[in-house]
Amino acid sequence: MTKSVERLRHDGPLIIGGGLAGLSAALQAGPRSTLVISPAPLLQACSSAWAQGGVAAALTSSDSPDLHAADTARAGAGLVEAEATRALTEAGRETVEWLAALGAPFDRDAAGGFAVNLEAAHSIARVARVGGDGAGRAILSALVAAVRAAPHVTAIEDGRLVRLMQDAHGRIGGALIARGRRLVEITAPAVVLATGGAGGLYAMTTNPSALRGEGLGLAALAGAEILDPEFVQFHPTAINVGLDPAPLATEALRGEGARLVDASGVFLLGDAADADLAARDIVARAVHRAVQSGRGAFLDARQAIGAHFPEAFPAVFAACLGAGLDPREQPIPVAAAAHYHMGGIAADADGRTSLEGLFAVGECAATGVHGANRLASNSLLEAAAFGRRTGLAAAQAIGAGGGDAGLVAPALSAEALAALRQAMTADAGVERDAGGLTRLIDVIDRLEIEAPRAPALVAARLIAQAALDRRESRGGHFRSDYPQAAPEARHSRITLAAGQTFRSAAA
Ligand code: SIN
Repeated sequence: MTKSVERLRHDGPLIIGGGLAGLSAALQAGPRSTLVISPAPLLQACSSAWAQGGVAAALTSSDSPDLHAADTARAGAGLVEAEATRALTEAGRETVEWLAALGAPFDRDAAGGFAVNLEAAHSIARVARVGGDGAGRAILSALVAAVRAAPHVTAIEDGRLVRLMQDAHGRIGGALIARGRRLVEITAPAVVLATGGAGGLYAMTTNPSALRGEGLGLAALAGAEILDPEFVQFHPTAINVGLDPAPLATEALRGEGARLVDASGVFLLGDAADADLAARDIVARAVHRAVQSGRGAFLDARQAIGAHFPEAFPAVFAACLGAGLDPREQPIPVAAAAHYHMGGIAADADGRTSLEGLFAVGECAATGVHGANRLASNSLLEAAAFGRRTGLAAAQAIGAGGGDAGLVAPALSAEALAALRQAMTADAGVERDAGGLTRLIDVIDRLEIEAPRAPALVAARLIAQAALDRRESRGGHFRSDYPQAAPEARHSRITLAAGQTFRSAAA
């Protein structure tokens, strides 16, 4: 039976996603009337609220946007775009000050400046934090309050993106949204995807498990160019106590001296004082191998943090206590978990994609600032800084929007989703090879029979196929059958063609 579809015409940006990127865009789009669609009440459904580290920015006298850009480029393993990265790091201080002015209660040093933490692969402490490890929730709470007070923004807090509306010329002019059992077609002159990442495609993730690359999959189905989808970052210290999603033990713990050890207390990365602050992919592989081999992996904070744990890292402390662990007295069991998607919908710093009318920002976008491996805490900066720019750009869009939403994909059953997530973790995880990726693509082929063109399957296929095609190891993508980096760093640029085959051309 065909469900009836309600129609709504909106004359301004339609923003899909209520995390830091989406809300920053919404605030900046004023005075243009702006509609935000979130699948759950604001604060409840996005990764940004879960971020523990903070916002990376050059905030101290010994730091500079150039140094921050150089660290970002080094982490990104040859695939970081210089212009976008300069735009990002130069916006650092202004963005942190904007967030502070909105009410984000950043920790301060004795002189009243921003207190900063050291995280892995940064050459200097530059992560502005809130309440130790509470940055995401505190920053997002300030934005939610500002959005609720902004007369130009309306939020629908029970809407799930189902399809994009597209006209005969390929222009995006709205979206089909599900609100419970109702379907609503919303036309708008600009659609901004701020739908977050794809960690929920994996069985072991630190992201809200509902984030399964839906924006990415739907943009790809509409013909948007996709950049480097194979690059997924695995966080080395997800707390390994069988929870889904897995709670995070922030990298800042290692910045304060906590050490990674196996069950016998042997250092996983050697005994140099800064060994555990190597690039995140290196640390993730060491943790992954220790877990796989049965040695086990633990984060030992007893000596470095000890009795200060509850005040210094209240969110991690609460997660540990919830799992029956006291990190003051015992090492925390950890495992590597899908944490951040560097690849995504190709977009510039103003969120413009290859499709007219479609903008993308935050984790679902790939602007080139993360390359093959994101530098820790650059994502909140990108979400806020490029979110603001995207809001301004989307507010300039004119026209009535419109177009066809096409066929709605059947939902994946719970069994199919569980099979997909297991296969993604096993075969498109920390270590990959041709045999595993081929097996994964077979699983996706099989699941597509039940749910053809389901956005989560499209996103999973993009990751798997691009990982199979990239016969080298670089950043977050490690191929055990091709362990070296190729001499030349090349992007994967993919456009999904009819029949879901990939056309892939090196940039
Ligand atoms: C962390 O606090 O370890 C995560 C920070 C990030 O992923 O940027």
